Amino acid sequence: MSQEPTSVLTAAPSDLARAAALLQAGKQVAFPTETVCGLGADATSGTAVAGIFAAKDRPSFNPLIVHVADTAAACGLVEWPETAAKLADAFWPGPLTLVLPLRPGHPISSLVTAGLDTLAVRVPAHPAAQALLRAFGGPIAAPSANRSGQISPTNAAHVLAGLGGRIAAVVDDGPCVVGLESTIVGLADGPVLLRPGGVPAEQVQAALKVPLGAVSPQDGITAPGQLKSHYAPAARVTLNRKSADPGGVLLGFGDIDGTLNLSPGGDLAEAAANLFDHLHRLDRMNAPIAVAPIPETGLGAAINDRLQRAAAER
Ligand code: TXA
Ligand code: MG
Repeated sequence: MSQEPTSVLTAAPSDLARAAALLQAGKQVAFPTETVCGLGADATSGTAVAGIFAAKDRPSFNPLIVHVADTAAACGLVEWPETAAKLADAFWPGPLTLVLPLRPGHPISSLVTAGLDTLAVRVPAHPAAQALLRAFGGPIAAPSANRSGQISPTNAAHVLAGLGGRIAAVVDDGPCVVGLESTIVGLADGPVLLRPGGVPAEQVQAALKVPLGAVSPQDGITAPGQLKSHYAPAARVTLNRKSADPGGVLLGFGDIDGTLNLSPGGDLAEAAANLFDHLHRLDRMNAPIAVAPIPETGLGAAINDRLQRAAAER
């Protein structure tokens, strides 16, 4: 990993052209998506992708999500069953990732897939991500732009705090509106929910009109989002609390008010958008973090998934 000053770019066309040129030169560039900020590199270049793992300190057996501008670009990389067409129609561009068998002759670096014969692909909705994909003109591999195991970034300041000096540039276009990573659905053999995320599982199931399986731990899918301790603040995190520990802080929700409140009105979309930013803020207070109960419905399932990983033994 090279030590270099990280340029802060805007979403203006001239800046995005610069970001695209950096990607074409094999550099790593962080950019906003509607879910969280991604750390992008040319998905067809092994050395460019290796630079992502180096900047993140990420174990290289974890496969990455590839971002493309539209469904046609996705179809060129992976097999396209009817289930994929249904979900892409319903949710792309947007916070949904599909895992599908790679097509023979595809250009994706094997470092992206960690040697698997499937690819996780998504079409982001964020205008700056869309414009960057079109300026670059190819698939961009991008995990979340945080050091491995740390809290995901939902604005450029979070990215710089974790990766400043380790990547070429970051595109700053304000906070990410969804605030949680994409929902990942595996379609390689029967639809399975691989990670809850920005599209509630109920909505995926309604669009598919078939039940969505869940992965069991012994399936051994190498998803860091499935590692027990992930998204972890430095401080100890405890869940389903109505008050803070002595000297601790409370992350509130609804009527249970705290040091910060995910959504005073009890709105789960607002809570998702605030989740990682509030965890970053509370983490800087160096005190144990208690978290109020969050309902398990809709986006609450993904919020609770991230909170359980933040609270897991490490
Ligand atoms: O919202 C998001 O998905 C963000 C933004 C930047 O797009 N990206 C993101 O990437 O969360 P990352 O690398 O942090 O998470 C990618 C997840 C991992 O859990 C990985 O293991 C899983 O996708 N994954 C990637 N390829 C896979 C495959 N072929 N089979 C199963 N899981 C896969
Ligand atoms: Mg991540």
